[in-house]
Amino acid sequence: MRPNEIFQKECIERVRSYKKNHNLVKAAAAFMRESTLPKYSYNFSWLGHPIIQYPQDIVAMQEIIWNVQPDLIIETGIAHGGSVIFSASMIALLEKCGCIEMGHVIAIDIDIREHNRIEIEKHPLCPYITMIQGSSIDGDIAEQVKSLSKNYKKILISLDSNHTHSHVLKELELYAPLVSVGSYCDVFDTIIENMPENSFLDRPWDKGNNPKTAVKEFLKHNNNFVIDNDIEHKLLITVAPDGYLKRIK
Ligand SMILES: C[S@@+](CC[C@H](N)C(=O)[O-])C[C@H]1O[C@@H](n2cnc3c(N)ncnc32)[C@H](O)[C@@H]1O
Repeated sequence: MRPNEIFQKECIERVRSYKKNHNLVKAAAAFMRESTLPKYSYNFSWLGHPIIQYPQDIVAMQEIIWNVQPDLIIETGIAHGGSVIFSASMIALLEKCGCIEMGHVIAIDIDIREHNRIEIEKHPLCPYITMIQGSSIDGDIAEQVKSLSKNYKKILISLDSNHTHSHVLKELELYAPLVSVGSYCDVFDTIIENMPENSFLDRPWDKGNNPKTAVKEFLKHNNNFVIDNDIEHKLLITVAPDGYLKRIK
């Protein structure tokens, strides 16, 4: 076995061992519980733009994108633009490294605030991005995205907009069919299901009504996707437990 194969094997075995390491699993769950309300995920930026993610999930996305090598990333939920700039930077790297010929990012948000739009448009990676304003579950918006997607070879999707069950389920129904076999649909904030009830009093989502319940419902009727639990077992700290969906057929 070559040294890098040994390293990979050790990594897989180490991650497997975490399941039995109750103190580590408990500490990670406690960190997730305690860090959500103090808005830990709002503390970071990507190439100058606030990104509302945990660093662990950003690294996971980097690993997924590098492995899948998509030429199109479709995102719902732009906010300040950090995740969109992140996706554009990964597409630019894939191009630069000769992994893909020409890639792009399509991003949808119901409310692209003027100051955020201006900042995103000023960014050097903006030519990689098409922003669409409207609800991601609006049929016309979904049709627009479908039509813009048709010439791409490998599509990856990231859902991070309204986190209610019905909204995410509809997003999955509309956009999951666009995901290429071997690629992913990443559903963020499934962690809401793991939080104590009434943790988000100013939001319409809660335990029982969130992206994880939508994923579970979606998978009851769709066997093209499986949850890639290896990712969360490795991360431990993630807002997307059961949210990394891999298209297998
Ligand atoms: C959690 S933020 C997105 C964070 C961003 N992905 C990041 O990582 O920096 C959620 C965004 O979803 C948008 N949103 C809410 N409802 C939506 C809908 N129905 N359709 C599209 N976007 C929506 C909000 O305007 C907000 O900007």
